[in-house]
This record gives sequence, structure tokens and C-alpha cells, in this order.
Amino acid sequence: MNKFKERFDKRYDELKWLYCELYNDDMGALDWLCHSIYEYYEERPDYLKRLDEEREKKPNWYKGNDLLGMMMYVNCFAEDLKGVKERLDYIKELGVNCLHMMPLLESPKGRDDGGYAVSDFRKVQPELGTMEDLKSLALECHKQGISCCLDFVMNHTSEEHVWAKAARAGDYEARKRYFFYDNWDIPNEYEKTVPQVFPTTAPGNFTWLDDCKQVVMTTFYPYQWDLNYANCVVFNDMVCNMLFLANQGIDIIRLDAVPYIWKELYASCRNHPKVHTIVRMMRLICEIVCPGVLLLGEVVMSPDKVVPYFGTVQKPECHMLYNVTTMASTWHTIATKDVSLLRRQLDQVSALPKDYVFLNYLRCHDDIGWGLDYDWLANFGIDEAAHKQFLNDYLTGAGYNSSSRGELYNNDPVLKDARLCGTTASLSGLEAAQFEGNREKEKIAIDCILMLHAYLFSQSGIPMLYSGDEIGQVNDYTYKEDMHKFADSRYLHRGRFPWQRRESEAAKQIFYGLRNLSRLRAKYDVFNAKASLSTFDTGNIHVLGIKREYHGHTMIAYYNFSSEEQWVNRQEDAYKEGYRELITGKDSKAVGDNMCAYGVWWMFTSE
Ligand code: GLC
Repeated sequence: MNKFKERFDKRYDELKWLYCELYNDDMGALDWLCHSIYEYYEERPDYLKRLDEEREKKPNWYKGNDLLGMMMYVNCFAEDLKGVKERLDYIKELGVNCLHMMPLLESPKGRDDGGYAVSDFRKVQPELGTMEDLKSLALECHKQGISCCLDFVMNHTSEEHVWAKAARAGDYEARKRYFFYDNWDIPNEYEKTVPQVFPTTAPGNFTWLDDCKQVVMTTFYPYQWDLNYANCVVFNDMVCNMLFLANQGIDIIRLDAVPYIWKELYASCRNHPKVHTIVRMMRLICEIVCPGVLLLGEVVMSPDKVVPYFGTVQKPECHMLYNVTTMASTWHTIATKDVSLLRRQLDQVSALPKDYVFLNYLRCHDDIGWGLDYDWLANFGIDEAAHKQFLNDYLTGAGYNSSSRGELYNNDPVLKDARLCGTTASLSGLEAAQFEGNREKEKIAIDCILMLHAYLFSQSGIPMLYSGDEIGQVNDYTYKEDMHKFADSRYLHRGRFPWQRRESEAAKQIFYGLRNLSRLRAKYDVFNAKASLSTFDTGNIHVLGIKREYHGHTMIAYYNFSSEEQWVNRQEDAYKEGYRELITGKDSKAVGDNMCAYGVWWMFTSE
């Protein structure tokens, strides 16, 4: 009780203040919540309580250069949870010690949005195993020094969730957990200001339920019913679901689609100030019950919308956020071969407080949306619509002599605003090269994949690999034959892990190249999230220059984003004695001035 009480007493005033403000001083509901969170504390396994205490003493535990993440679909990688447990050695060999398993809770077949339509927050999908399996996998991961991350799909439930079923059947209390309307009057008002998430695959933000003659809010797919967080019962119950998952041994809770959780008429229903009140309350509750657990916010928005989710130094919200704009800018750079925008983007991120930890990535399970800094690009005469068209043409291989093989996603017929899908390898030209049997092109593609990962590792924050990228997994076109998936091109990059491909020469080169990079990253603390980062002019628009400094150590890195050899203006001091190229181990002078296509240099000095 002591630990709980100590943490609770410190935070109760703020929690009460926020809760009462949001829920009209409903003290009965707050008491229920406080009582419930204590029960979750009581139920929390001892080993996790010990871990909480260790992490409380080392609050920066997740900011080091030794943390490397990987996200994966359990079924694609190893059939089920037991399979993952047996294959931990594989990810460990790569230096991965943080495992994000894609949604694995119960969701109806064919109407699951890849697991993002949860029908039971306390049950694992039967094909993947049981809650006991998840618990035992998490325990094994902890024994082996691996943290686990799981999605908490909090914006909506599946239409098959018990609350949804009751609501459909007419239960008044259950209906209050969602947004139900007798007719289209209010929904039509909402539609005036609320943009669409899936304009092609799921247009509109509401769905007509013919059986009960009601309209229900469905921001995402029609079978994903938005929860109403203005109802304190929803907040209380969902907090309990979150703590339940934390108690299974989940270290990082990914707050799925968090900007959407507060809805208000005549607003965009994104990033409402009350979303921040809710996230702050969740942070306080985790700090009381399970302070070793981190919140990772999924905010796929422009940087000015993302950063507020860190909260303030005194009142923090999320521990980590995705660096989505840098990811999109990276693929823009692959297409344009001009590093200017990326430089600007990296400089902006590095100017933010070092306490902000970003999760960096090249690809994930979702599409790439072209949320770039168009105001800045306009200075160079770049028009947003035309540029998106260029990026999509280039990355789908539709022109410009491009070897990329992506597919469009949600090609909005009105806004003409398509997004893009595809694996790192296919977008980098490996699929085309192998299809053509062109060895020269294949080598260039492999170098591109490795260069991109080296660049990923030298950004500020934690890198998150996408399972399959480490062996150059290409697009999977079989989704087109599946009636539940064919309309959603995100399945293009959600294919089964090709274990047999691992033996190919190309896969080995990528895997061992990446392993080398990850070992170097873990070894040198110049890669630490606390290191200072700046970009510099390499004298060549195709080559990105990044300088990292930490405790007297400096790394000057060069990344050639073009498919041709490039000359660079070496930083003066790189020629001095003491510098060494980390990846090849060559001495500075031996490196020269010419970089091969998609080349990388990590010039390091320990002086
Ligand atoms: C998040 C997920 C995405 C899903 C959506 C709805 O954005 O990343 O895959 O479709 O939430 O749950």
C-alpha cells in the first residue's frame, strides 16, 4: 500500500482537478476510479512492481543509445505468441530489445482493420494464443532484457464489443458510451467540419444502422464505433483496460489514434484541448499504478500538432511520439534526391528540448501520408498538389525512370490526395531489381536500404525497425485475392515474414549490414538521445550531413541520397588525425571525397 499511497498522494490533487473539470465534479465516479486503480496496483505482479521501482530511480532508462525497437505482426512473423517466444533469438541477434507487437486482441474476422477493431480488451485473438501466452511472452522478454509495446486502441471499439452489442439492442446506458443519433441532423452538422480519415475505403464519419434505425459515429471504418469520452464511465472503464494490459507485462502502451478521442460539434474533432486533459490523467494514473510503463502517442499530424502531446516539463503527457514528418520527408528525399527539406526537418527536431523522445522509423504498418512543409517548399516554386503527384508517380514507379514499387492508398477522388504504401525494400528498388535479375541495380537497392537505416540510427530518438525490412522483404500482392483486404492497400506491406528468403545473398547482406550498424549504435554513446545534433552543408544537394556530439565525442555522418556516385566537401576537421569511419573501420584519409551511390560514412573521433 505504501508505494501506491506515496505516489497517489503526490498526484491526487491534480487528478481530481482535471477529472472534476472534465466530468462536472462527479466525485462518485472519481472515487470509483481511484478505488479501481488501487485494485490494479494490488494485482500487479511483483516482478513488475520491482521493475517500476528500478525505472522510477532511472527515469531516463528509455533514452539511451542501446534501445532499438522492432514492430511486427505476430502471425506474419511466427504464427502465434508461442512462436514469437521461440524466435526471440532472431530479433536479439539484430540488437532489438523493444518489441512492438501489432494489435493482437480479439477482433472480428474480416472486420478488424488489422486488429484495430477490438471486441474484447482482455482476450487475445484465439489464433494467436491466450492472455496467459501473452503474459508468459512478456515475462520471457523481460528475462532477456526486451521491453514489450502493445497498442491500446482507445478511440473506438468494434461493433462486436459487448457495449456496442448492447447499444445496438437499445440499451440506453450503452448508447451513451458511443455517439448515437435518431436521424442525420446532427451527423450532417458534424460532417461540415470533420475531415475524413479513409475517404475512399470508408467515406464519411457516420454509419446508418438499419436494424436499429440509428446513426452511429464511425470516424474510421463503419465497424469501428467511436467511444464518447465525455462520458466518465467510458474513461473509467478504458483506464481499467489499459491497466489490465500493463499488468500483463506491457512496458509501452501505444495510444492509437489519440488525437481523435474528443468530439465536439463544429470542430475538426482532432487535437481538442480536452484530449490533452485525458492523456495527462492517463499519465498520472500510470505514474501511480505502474510508473515503469511508458505512453507512446500515435499522432500522425504536422509537428505543431505532435509536440503538444509531450505536455510540459511540469505536466508531461506522452513519453514518446512518432516522428512522422521526418519519415515522410525521408521518402520525399528518396524521390527528389535533394536533401534540403530533410535538413530543415532534422534541424527543427533537434532544436526541441532533449526531454522529448521521438520514435523514428522508415516504414510502419500504415501508409505514408504526404504531410510535408509545403509553405517552405513553396519558396522553391513547389506546388503541393503537383508535388504529391510527383512523389506518388515516382514511388509507384510510374515515371522518372524510377525503380520504386509502391501502390497508392486512399486516392481521394475529390482532393486528389493519395497516400502511399509499400515496403522499404520495394520502395528502394530491390523488388524491381530482383524481378529484372539486374545485379547492379540490386546492389544499389541494398545500399539504399542500408543507407536509410544508418541515417535512421543517427536521428535523435529511438529507432523502430519494421519487421522484414532487415532482410529486404518486398511487397506482398496476395491481399488482392482476399475479399476482406483487397480494398486496403496497406496490406501490401503487411505480408508474411519470408523465412526462406533469409538465406538469399541479398537478405544476408542487409541483415548483417544492419546488425553492424545496430552494434555500433549501441556501442558509441554519441548516438544517445541526449547527444546534440546538427546538420551541415556537404556542398552537394544529394548528400545529407549530420553531426552528433556527446561528451567530447563527435560523429560526422554523410548520407548519399542519390543513385549516382557523388563528390562531397569533407568537413575540414574530418581530415585531421583521429577520425575513423566506423562502418568500414577505415582511417579518415583513406575514405576520400567520392561517395558511392547511396553511400554512408560515419566519421568518428574520440578526441
Ligand atoms: C491507427 C492505426 C491504423 C488504424 C487506425 C484506426 O491510425 O495505426 O492502422 O487503421 O488507427 O484504429
